[in-house]
Amino acid sequence: MSAPIVPRYSPRDRANHWVIAITFILLAISGLALFHPAFFFLSNLLGGGTWNRILHPFIGVVLLLSFTAFALRLAADNRITAADREWKKYLPRILRNEPVTLPKIGKYNIGQKYLFWSLVVLIPLLFFTGIVIWQPWFASYFSVGLIRLAVLVHAAAAFLAMLAIIVHIYSAIWTKGSIRAMTRGTVSAAWAKHHHPAWYEEVSRSR
Ligand code: HEM
Repeated sequence: MSAPIVPRYSPRDRANHWVIAITFILLAISGLALFHPAFFFLSNLLGGGTWNRILHPFIGVVLLLSFTAFALRLAADNRITAADREWKKYLPRILRNEPVTLPKIGKYNIGQKYLFWSLVVLIPLLFFTGIVIWQPWFASYFSVGLIRLAVLVHAAAAFLAMLAIIVHIYSAIWTKGSIRAMTRGTVSAAWAKHHHPAWYEEVSRSR
């Protein structure tokens, strides 16, 4: 008999997430190629320096649109609750893999929620600073001072977003049984009960 499974993401959510993941990785690689000559070789992925420069901002528009659609659907499940704050106190013991009785949390834990809200800030910030520096389309509407500031903020936001996504990918791999949520759309009942008990109870009641 196969282990019981619980649906977690619809095909639409998964397709949306993978568009976000692919565009983000393309942006990180092409952005690094624009950032410093040491990374210029990375521009080969998009067909060389010229195409790298042309395509990078357009891919940014796709990321903004796809992330906005995803974030609007997930926002309600990412509201931080009292149970999340309580759960956070156990984090050092969770990371040391010590046995603990945890408060019952919903669909996401507080780490996932922090990631979510930091991306809600960083992705629009990257987009709007990107618009200010986008030549030949928009940059001519802005002062040199503002363009310089936008370049700085764009690079800093990109650094933080890349750091956040490295942690996100590492956690997704490290928490056994999570990847299938984004590949097949389901998780095992044991995974749901263990990591997100309040969500598991909610899903079980509605089935
Ligand atoms: C290859 C890269 C990636 C992998 C392997 C990956 C994996 C995953 C997995 C397994 C989940 C489900 C977690 C769960 O339901 O508990 C998830 C959720 C999510 N992913 Fe990714 N992801 C990747 C890239 C990205 C990128 C680039 C972004 C955004 C820029 C992103 C944003 C999110 C968000 C917002 C969620 C929902 C979690 C929440 O709302 O707190 N992911 N990802």
